[in-house]
Amino acid sequence: MKVIRSVKEMTATSRELRNAGKITALVPTMGYFHEGHLSLMDKARELADKVIVSLFVNPIQFGPTEDLATYPRDEKRDLSLAQMRGVDYMFIPTAGEMYGSGFQTSIEVSQLSKGLCGASRPGHFRGVATVVAKLFNITRPHKAIFGQKDFQQLLVIKRMVKDLNMDVEIISHPIVREPDGLAMSSRNTYLSFEERKSALSLHSALKLAEHMIESGQNNSGIVAGKIEEHIEAHPHTKIDYVFIGDPDTLEPVNEIKAPVVIALAVFVGSTRLIDNAVVYP
Ligand code: PAF
Repeated sequence: MKVIRSVKEMTATSRELRNAGKITALVPTMGYFHEGHLSLMDKARELADKVIVSLFVNPIQFGPTEDLATYPRDEKRDLSLAQMRGVDYMFIPTAGEMYGSGFQTSIEVSQLSKGLCGASRPGHFRGVATVVAKLFNITRPHKAIFGQKDFQQLLVIKRMVKDLNMDVEIISHPIVREPDGLAMSSRNTYLSFEERKSALSLHSALKLAEHMIESGQNNSGIVAGKIEEHIEAHPHTKIDYVFIGDPDTLEPVNEIKAPVVIALAVFVGSTRLIDNAVVYP
């Protein structure tokens, strides 16, 4: 596995890979790998001749009061995990390398970025779209793999690729969960023992809602109410949003007649967790 830290070298390498006719897949990450990241790498390995993983904690997608400084990092461990999963190239730029002096361009996927996480994290998806576009330009992948846990992010990226005619296929991969149902996230390491127990309420609330909808409940307000009641019954929780809506447009839905995405963001202690499920009536 080759570790590349400069944009210039990564750009030259991706050009060589393309010229040699290799199919490449990119897995963009912010590091601190868990089984969710590793399953994206496995998928990339399955689909491409060469797998590139980027590891970059992107400062421009964090708000001023968010956890950029404390975001968990362990490059040595990440490198050995990626190597074990058969990754060919790790691209690990510094912030200075990615955003040189005078940097001033950004990409805004306006509608899809507005609600849900976009409402509580202003500028977040602008930062995500901008860095992902840069990573695509630097690594020139044929395919890029994203997890469905960041459901809104996935839609934002797909829209950007379509709107800007980017020549990359976006592949989505299912949420990977701990055996007890908690969606894997690097931020789970922030949770205390008691908070981790309460964090399970996100998945159990989604299961409850799925059961209600599958049993014929089609009023999204009633389903959302039950989700809130369930989560709030667990200590240390504070709901940011409960959203039920169209899984393609993220428009809210009142009467559930077609598949909906149920997306949640909940503070457990000071850790903000997200989870979602697409449910079929
Ligand atoms: O999902 C993430 O880890 C990040 O948002 C991404 C896509 C790597 C961009 O920084």
